[in-house]
Parts: sequence; C-alpha cells; structure tokens
Amino acid sequence: MTQLVDLRSDTVTKPTAPMRAAMAAAEVGDDVYAEDPTVNALERKVAALFGHEAALFAPTGSMANQIALQLIVPPAQELLCDANAHVVTYEIGAAAAIGGISSRTWPFAGGAIDVEQVASMIRPDGYHAVPTRAIAVEQTHNMAGGVVIGLETLRALREAADTAGIAMHCDGARIWHAHIADGVPLAEYGALFDTLSVCLSKGLGAPVGSLVVGSAEKIAKARWIRKRMGGGMRQAGILAAAGVYALDNHVERLAEDHVRARRLAEALAPFGIVDLDRVRTNLVILDLAKTALDAPTLAARAREQGVLVSALGPRTGRLITHLDVDDAGLDRAIDVLAAIFRG
Ligand SMILES: Cc1ncc(COP(=O)(O)O)c(C=O)c1O
Repeated sequence: MTQLVDLRSDTVTKPTAPMRAAMAAAEVGDDVYAEDPTVNALERKVAALFGHEAALFAPTGSMANQIALQLIVPPAQELLCDANAHVVTYEIGAAAAIGGISSRTWPFAGGAIDVEQVASMIRPDGYHAVPTRAIAVEQTHNMAGGVVIGLETLRALREAADTAGIAMHCDGARIWHAHIADGVPLAEYGALFDTLSVCLSKGLGAPVGSLVVGSAEKIAKARWIRKRMGGGMRQAGILAAAGVYALDNHVERLAEDHVRARRLAEALAPFGIVDLDRVRTNLVILDLAKTALDAPTLAARAREQGVLVSALGPRTGRLITHLDVDDAGLDRAIDVLAAIFRG
C-alpha cells in the first residue's frame, strides 16, 4: 500500500527514532514536586530562549494558553483578540468557562492588525463597562494561513498596551516558524509579551507538550493554576526529553517545511485557489470559492488517492507541511491535487 501523505496538520508527526531514544534515556522525577530534572531543564531552556525568567511545561497548547490568560485577565474582565484567534475560537470556550474571562474580538483581517482600531477598543476601569486587561495575538496565525505578524506591528501594539497599562499574550504555537521565516530572535518576540505559550508538538515534532513563558512570579502562579486544571504531571521528563530534543534538532529544519509549502502553493496557484502572498511559513490555505469543488469533496477525493487535506470550512481547505512530509511525498500530493483541480 502506498504511504499516506498527511497534510492535514503539523500535529500528526510521529516521534523520530533519535527522539524516542532521548525519551527512553530521560532522567525523571515527580514534577508536581518540581523534582523532574528533564522537565526543569526544558523549562530553563525555553525561558532563556525567550529572555524570560521562567517557563512551565503543560500538556497542551490550549492549556498553556488558558493558564496564561488566567494569569493576566482576572474573572469578569476582558481580553481582546481577533475573531479567529485560537484562544477564543478553538479552545471550546475555556477562557469564559474556566477563567471567567470576558472576551471581545476585532474583525479578522487575514492576520493583519489595525493597531489604532485595537487601541480604540481598550476599555478603562470604571463602574459601567468591562475593563480590558490584555491583548492576545497569534504568531504565526493559523487561520490566516501561517502568516507572520511583523515586528513593527507587534511593537506598536505593545506601545498601545503600555499606554493603557494592560498586558499582552502571544499564542506562539508556531512562533518557531515566525523566527525562521523573518529571522527575528525568539528573545526579541519574548520581550514584547507578558506571557507566551509555545508548542513543541506542532512543527517541532514532539508528541506532547507546550510551555507557558513569563516572569518568575507569574510562572509560580501558573504552576498552581496548572495543578487546578488537572495538568500537574509526574514523571513528565519522558515527554520533556522529546521537547529538548526537538529544540536542539528541529528548529532550523523548519526552513525546509517552508520551502515545501511554497512549492505546493506555487503548484496550486494556477488553479486560482491560493494567495501566494500569504504563504510565508508551513501553511497553505485553499480558497475554493471560485471552483466547482467544495472542501469536503476535495478532502474525500484526495484521501482516495492517499493524500489527506483539512476541510476547514465548506469552501476552505488547508495543507500543512511538516517533519513527516518529504520531497517525494510532496511531489505525490502535488500530482494528486493538481489532477483533481484539472478535473
Ligand atoms: C495557533 C494555535 N494555538 C494553540 C493550539 C492548541 O494546541 P493543542 O492542540 O496542543 O491544545 C493550536 C492547535 O493546533 C494552534 O494552532
């Protein structure tokens, strides 16, 4: 049987043999007692990468985001983010249900941010309205097709947040991709945010794990929130070892995924379904509005030929390149998808 080429997500990667070896060899302890040396090493490493004092290992990106939001937005106060932000759109209402956080969104504009518009939405303290406490951004932006938010925009947003005395959170599930695409040091991103969440289990290829990054004071509180959310793990060093391995071996290679995504996008662009300007990292969004094909039909036809595609909406598909898609797999995906669009 031919191997599937799975372009649905970069979360589908399987740990490589050397990653598994690193996991098997990991020194472990009870992390709820903060006694797992491998978790502690991972946390120190990630904090240092982003130029912050501390970091906390969490099982998922969603939990890391929600811990961070609870750190910076008290219950019944407000978070601002865009209408397609993962933190409010794809985390099953956790900010409201668990954090008691009120959220308001600015219109999604493909990852572009109108800083003046966001600044005008910030509500001050007072008796009548919900005060705004934080702004969240996503780097890279998933639903926008992996676009990178530029440093100048982030700096302007930070200035607006500082003027209002509110916090900034970065959902950095794929911040590694932004770092590789734009060459911005991770610490430069880190300096702009009060809290970040970063994922090891997407482009970096670890099976599990994300971290919350912030000040020592915030991360001490984050540890407490994580336990309350059921995220206190025991011999988690086995998982953290995969993260350490991924950081040492899988960051620079993201450039290969970016090149493959670009090649895929350029091969499909003649069918009028790809905005090449948006393809900056490892995601390719397919806009099927002007084709005869809807996304579920595309996904079903491609699957019959061993290529897996995400149907994000009735007329929106998504392809993601990752560690487990090589050049031969990509060529096959291009052949299959181009034949479908040729009709
Ligand atoms: C931008 C972004 N943030 C957060 C997450 C959540 O990660 P997890 O699936 O580990 O909860 C995802 C998942 O794909 C994501 O794309």
